[in-house]
Amino acid sequence: MYQNINKKMNVLLLGSGGREHAFAVKIAQSQRLSKLFIAPGNPGTAECGQNVSLDISDFAKIENFTVENNINMLVVGPEDPLVKGISDYFADKSVAVIGPSKKGAMLEGSKDFAKDFMTAHGIPTARYKSFDINQIRQGYAFLEELIPPFVLKADGLAAGKGVVIVDNLPEAKSVLKEMLDGKFGLASRKVVIEEYLHGIEVSVFVLTDGKSYKILPEAKDYKRIGDNDKGLNTGGMGAVSPVPFADETFMAKVRKRIVEPTIRGLREDGIDYKGFIFLGLMNCKGEPYLIEYNVRMGDPETEVVFPRLNADILDLFNGVANGNLETVPCSVLPETAVTVVAVSGGYPEEYKKGFEIAGVKTITENTVFHAGTSEKEGKLLTSGGRVLTVTALAENLPSAIDSAYNSIRKISFKDCYYRKDIGNDLLQ
Ligand code: AMP
Ligand code: GLY
Repeated sequence: MYQNINKKMNVLLLGSGGREHAFAVKIAQSQRLSKLFIAPGNPGTAECGQNVSLDISDFAKIENFTVENNINMLVVGPEDPLVKGISDYFADKSVAVIGPSKKGAMLEGSKDFAKDFMTAHGIPTARYKSFDINQIRQGYAFLEELIPPFVLKADGLAAGKGVVIVDNLPEAKSVLKEMLDGKFGLASRKVVIEEYLHGIEVSVFVLTDGKSYKILPEAKDYKRIGDNDKGLNTGGMGAVSPVPFADETFMAKVRKRIVEPTIRGLREDGIDYKGFIFLGLMNCKGEPYLIEYNVRMGDPETEVVFPRLNADILDLFNGVANGNLETVPCSVLPETAVTVVAVSGGYPEEYKKGFEIAGVKTITENTVFHAGTSEKEGKLLTSGGRVLTVTALAENLPSAIDSAYNSIRKISFKDCYYRKDIGNDLLQ
């Protein structure tokens, strides 16, 4: 049993992206921290704690490490270990896990499970039906009932690529067949077809101990590679928080119609959930609809959400672990945060790695979060598609945009690319 009311703690954080660097910065600021380890981490997290080379799906090795290093808390960044059941693995051990049980993680791991959960608990979402390979005719018939565009989703995790949106019926039918035939491997054994929602997207983040919850700052993510939302989908090219259209009236609806039924539903269904819930919402003429659940924080959303969080994050996590999150103080800074992601030329398709990155140390006015970087012989090199992201926190949106871009212009590496329009759509 985890019991850590007033002690300092040793924390192991799992993951290696910009999100985990943002977690590491926040954890390193905590009054409760004794020692922070990050597995595997990146050169950015190495400035906040000690990186350790552990495979984040090897639970037995992680367990050994927690025993040898007196780890009190395991903070899980990405969804993969959660979907594989890392929380259940540690359930009877003296390490608290920040992240839901395997059953809870199905809210992200299975779109069919998530949609059934939403329906069972009266949470507004797009009309849908699920089909497997034996129901292809029924799938075609359902497509014929819908108005284009058509949304087809692989049921399981497909590295963020499992959603296909097409404009016409013949193409929708052929995509359905391809998916059921294994386009996304086992992930598309089952396919969810749903009605298309027209509106503007916003992400809302919730932290819960399974009973009470805190709504964290909301954010807008910029998913497409090109300016004005053109081109291929990416993991996220930038983010902004707060989102002006997510005003008090809208957020009150989100709380009442989505957050509260979700927490209540988890309890009613006996699902153990101690961790983050990321709500992917569509604002349809002022009414919130839930597109999807993720069972972790977003990346790059965390890089704008955490800088606005006025709380000791280990106090919050301790509240989550002890089931008294309700009593932990947490407020949000009024400033606006903007983050702009610098990526390797070619991303999200093929790109090269190993280019030297210059300029990071010259940015002292804002925060640089490392994502795909590595260090070799004292040089910082590119090692991923999304390389790093610069977050500015300023009094208002125009100043935050200016400041983030002034900083990112100081970064250089071969074929560096970033969007030039992050936040522009939110200016009056
Ligand atoms: P997901 O992988 O579920 O985040 O879906 C990827 C993206 O597809 C979302 O961020 C939306 O932009 C879009 N999308 C998913 N479902 C719908 C829907 N029912 N209506 C409109 N857009 C959708
Ligand atoms: N930026 C979207 C995500 O983290 O899923």
